[in-house]
Amino acid sequence: MCGIIGYAGHRPAVPLIVEGLRRLEYRGYDSAGVATVQNKEIELVRAAGKLAALDEKLARKNVTNSTFGVGHTRWATHGVPVERNAHPHLDHEKNIAMIHNGIIENYQEIKTELLAKGYEFRSDTDSEVLCNLIAEGRKHNPNMLESISWALNQVEGAYAIAVVSIDEPGTVYAARVASPMVMGVGTGENFVASDIPAFLPYTREVVFIEDGELVKITSSSWEVFNVETLEPVEKEIKTINWDVQAAQKGGYKHFMIKEIFEQPKVISDCLAGRVDQAKNEIVLPEVEGMEPPERLHIIACGTSYHAGLWGKYLIEQWAKIPVEVEIASEFRYRDPLLAKGGVALAISQSGETADTLAGIKLAKEKGLSIIGLCNVVGSSVARESDYVMYTQAGPEISVASTKAMCSQLTALMLLALYWGKRKGVIDATTYSRAAQDMRSIPSILETALPAMRSRAQELSREYSEANSFFFLGRGLYFPLALEGALKLKEISYIHAEGYASGEMKHGPIALIDPKFPTFAMALNDELFPKVKSNLVEVQARGGEIIALTNPGVDLDVEHRWSLPEVWGPLNTFIALPALQLFAYETADYLGKDVDQPRNLAKSVTVE
Ligand code: G6P
Repeated sequence: MCGIIGYAGHRPAVPLIVEGLRRLEYRGYDSAGVATVQNKEIELVRAAGKLAALDEKLARKNVTNSTFGVGHTRWATHGVPVERNAHPHLDHEKNIAMIHNGIIENYQEIKTELLAKGYEFRSDTDSEVLCNLIAEGRKHNPNMLESISWALNQVEGAYAIAVVSIDEPGTVYAARVASPMVMGVGTGENFVASDIPAFLPYTREVVFIEDGELVKITSSSWEVFNVETLEPVEKEIKTINWDVQAAQKGGYKHFMIKEIFEQPKVISDCLAGRVDQAKNEIVLPEVEGMEPPERLHIIACGTSYHAGLWGKYLIEQWAKIPVEVEIASEFRYRDPLLAKGGVALAISQSGETADTLAGIKLAKEKGLSIIGLCNVVGSSVARESDYVMYTQAGPEISVASTKAMCSQLTALMLLALYWGKRKGVIDATTYSRAAQDMRSIPSILETALPAMRSRAQELSREYSEANSFFFLGRGLYFPLALEGALKLKEISYIHAEGYASGEMKHGPIALIDPKFPTFAMALNDELFPKVKSNLVEVQARGGEIIALTNPGVDLDVEHRWSLPEVWGPLNTFIALPALQLFAYETADYLGKDVDQPRNLAKSVTVE
């Protein structure tokens, strides 16, 4: 977690860094800070709370126009979120300033040694320990490069760090192990950051930094070294085609609503180049080189896990491949039985989720090939995978994931069709219908979204005082029920549980009363009659129901929410945004901080 940025260039560093942090705030937002160097002294400004608190403090201070520095937005791991634990941290003599994302596992031992040498600490963080270890290294080494390497070779754990010192004005050092870091190469200026949007207004030229690499940037140069040996490492510059607008709100009140409305485009982008329109055929060059798996293990967390649960239905049904879906944090410690030669599919929007990465490592050790289904280009999941399929959703800024899930479902559907065809097990009509009709979903959804938003607004006003909600669905809509409940609880803080409709009678129905509403997915499919019976059971206990359904469906509930009907599983792509809109409108109506819900972070790079 945490967002970091380092800058060396020709512009005043502080405003540029703060703007960069604003675009990284989704990575954590419990405190923030910046450090620059002027006249052989470190200038440090930090504030507990969101970036606005840092802005206020900076407005009151007279920061200089130093043209290099580092900045950080924090999601606490060690030490409560107060100013003294905010980054940057200084060494005890105030010669070095460092920002850190990750956890130094052996910090306690190092701290004990440094305390014995007379070092003093001002925070509770593992990061300050590393900063002082670099200072200790400076005593034995001729320059900062060697001091940083000396220190990093003693630490265990995960880190992305950036460092400035009074010794070397104009230079920023950075390094990473198991925490994300990219370098931006500009003209007369260079950047390091946790993620590309931080420097996107200034450059699209990007170098992906790998584990064990140490970077040195100045305004006019950049170099990458192996952190252990300090041998230079050759790196390739890649050009990113994201536009700055895509990383900003574009007129919407929140990133979340913008991202919900982007879903038609996300589906088109994910399908682009993957459906041969002339032949009505799915082409997936990314997995062409592998045989369809005999068994598939899907590992993921959060919303990506729900996408995986949904994918299981289609991959089993269409490609006849047995699929197990597991929460990555369970999978990694369960000692799972994995047959050599099997395949694991890791789903991750960020590509940096620590548990998912650990799941990949375990699956690799057991001899599985890995397919990474992720959104962020060049992310750790992408780099650790044997085959990578990018979901093409563009940057997702809102902490609550919306368009990323839509893109994951699109990609999973493509995989199910592709493998089904390659194995010759999918029925030809289903295949051609799916391949054909998928392409019309973006325009149907685009047309439907404004009315769906109005309906979500009406319903959210009526139910904003509810303390609890059930979300129910069967078949493909069971994972959606889980996702609907997750969205509502994470941004509106209303308690919500997702259940398979048929499970209600085994306990949860005891909770139903007139103040405990149910949000049901009662779409027009072969399971509808079963769902209907479950809903009658809820009504018999006085429970009120909002039902997502289709025109003409015979259902008598308090609130019908009729969605345009499309073919078969494609109805998912209309139902998912309805759930997201309901959560969004409820949270917004209640005045919650929609894009940055309390206690959460977008990219969870710790266990
Ligand atoms: C966090 C985010 C969720 C996300 C999950 C998995 O909890 O708040 O929105 O679904 O991580 O993230 P990933 O990047 O691996 O999909």
